[in-house]
Amino acid sequence: MSQSVFEQTDEKWEDPLDLIDEIEELKKEKDATILAHYYVDGEIQDVADFTGDSLKLARDATKVTTSTILFSGVHFMAETAKMLNPEKTVLIPDLLAGCSLAESCPADKLAAYQEQLRAEGRDFLTVAYINTSAAVKSLCDWIVTSGNAREIVDKLPADKEILFVPDQHLGRYLSEVTGREMILWPGACMVHEMFSLQDLLRAKKNNPESIVIAHPECPKNILDASDFIGGTEKMRRFIESKSEPTTFLVATEANMIHPLEKLGPQHKFIPVPGIMTSTGETCACNRCPHMARNTLQAVRDSLKKNQYEIEWQPFFDKAKDVVEKSLLN
Ligand code: 13P
Ligand code: SF4
Repeated sequence: MSQSVFEQTDEKWEDPLDLIDEIEELKKEKDATILAHYYVDGEIQDVADFTGDSLKLARDATKVTTSTILFSGVHFMAETAKMLNPEKTVLIPDLLAGCSLAESCPADKLAAYQEQLRAEGRDFLTVAYINTSAAVKSLCDWIVTSGNAREIVDKLPADKEILFVPDQHLGRYLSEVTGREMILWPGACMVHEMFSLQDLLRAKKNNPESIVIAHPECPKNILDASDFIGGTEKMRRFIESKSEPTTFLVATEANMIHPLEKLGPQHKFIPVPGIMTSTGETCACNRCPHMARNTLQAVRDSLKKNQYEIEWQPFFDKAKDVVEKSLLN
């Protein structure tokens, strides 16, 4: 029986301050470096040695000097860190921390579709968002992140078609900004697809001076209602450029507010949809259930028990070449 990402763990409550102390000790004892994505809990970001978006973390992974990397994020990110550090031990706190985008594009289905396009005589390049498995990456010509996608697409030869996988929303947005037509794989992020235009418009009405910032994984109707579109690192740079106290409506995973508040404490950040219930709580549909599997306990246990290790797979060799060419240049 396959496991669900929503499956409950049997963790007991432990004082976060004790857990943080334990993690700091274990990092030294195990010669480990923690890399954390902006979508994991703020307390994990604070105990991490590197935080970032997918692109920055892939690059940071090449600067690690310890023998072990603990990747607090999702599976495809830990796989990428392993590809770039074959000789290091790469750990992920929970093997169920996957990604709806990566799952929407299995390698066998992509290979069959590429074969079909070739049989039709189509001359194309396959460009994959980094949110894909290593097996999928090994079938692709280029890997992009929200941070470098436009730059890479802009340099692709004009006489080739582009097959973009797996995020249809990012692909559509890229097609719009680069003017390149794309064959789009029908995948989507389960978090960014959940934003409701009605809730966003209501939040805008309630905060008339606010600025809406949105991740390009959002559907077109949300992007059309936004003032700034960019991946998580670009959002940080945008906030850094604003000194006057401002209200921002943030259309991405809710934990992103943690690094934004650290950068701009004078601002107010409201998560979209930010629906207030009758008990004053905010709707949690803007939390990624995969990222949420990274708890402080899971990080502590991962370091303590050396679990769960990303093992080198045969297709990593090919995937590594594409990742290095795309992300490290
Ligand atoms: P970036 O942080 O690279 O913008 O990606 C967002 C995301 O969905 C990661 O899973
Ligand atoms: Fe995947 Fe979306 Fe979660 Fe990012 S936020 S890991 S794209 S499911």
